[in-house]
Amino acid sequence: MSMRVDIISIFPEYFAPLSVSLIGKARQKGLLDVRVHQLRDWTHDVHRTVDDTPYGGGPGMVMKPEPWSEAIDAVVGAAASPPRLVVPTPSGRPFTQRVALEYAGEPWLLFAPARYEGIDARVMAEYGSRLRLDEVSIGDYVLAGGEAAVLVMVEAVGRLLPGVLGNARSVADDSFAPGAMAALLEGPVYTKPPVWRGREVPPILLSGNHGAIARWRRDEALRRTAAHRPELLALLDPDLLDKRDRAV
Ligand code: ADE
Repeated sequence: MSMRVDIISIFPEYFAPLSVSLIGKARQKGLLDVRVHQLRDWTHDVHRTVDDTPYGGGPGMVMKPEPWSEAIDAVVGAAASPPRLVVPTPSGRPFTQRVALEYAGEPWLLFAPARYEGIDARVMAEYGSRLRLDEVSIGDYVLAGGEAAVLVMVEAVGRLLPGVLGNARSVADDSFAPGAMAALLEGPVYTKPPVWRGREVPPILLSGNHGAIARWRRDEALRRTAAHRPELLALLDPDLLDKRDRAV
């Protein structure tokens, strides 16, 4: 089963990277159907206006509701199972691996990235009552628009779709993946040559002892998590920690 992704934006050319690499190949294989739409196609004035000054005053401009509603209505049409509508905004709920997994189970996502100070809030009120609407943030920083956030989310979701990654295990081992490594960051990785500029690959990785290697990787993951994301360690299920974990 393939996933359909629609994106409505005033910068359709921003999404050229979705033709490259893993996501580009997924599209070629028919696993992902991406359709990008120009929001201005749903304006009716010569200037193709999508923004106006904010009520109540303040800096910047706000995106007008009419082009968005016409665009969303045209894309959704009379679909019996409408898409999940995703509006990227720094004031949204956090986009995490959990949310990516949730989206990967959806047959159809519609992204509505905004420029300027955002979209007139009545659009979210209107579609929040008609579609499943998510306002999501990809992190605690402010981008110039939601387009880059959509690229991030499509890549995070796309690589989770069945058939997109060659090796399904690499998804299970991801940092933040549910399971034994829950809330642990992945440790360092090595490849050939065994010695490079006098630096050796940790000998245990060449030992062939799979139990010892797994233990070493878990130790490294615990150390890295403690160093970079100590708050994640506190979230670990204490029942999943063994004596060795505590010693690390
Ligand atoms: N638009 C601007 N900043 C954003 C962010 N951090 N996440 C999602 N959308 C955004």
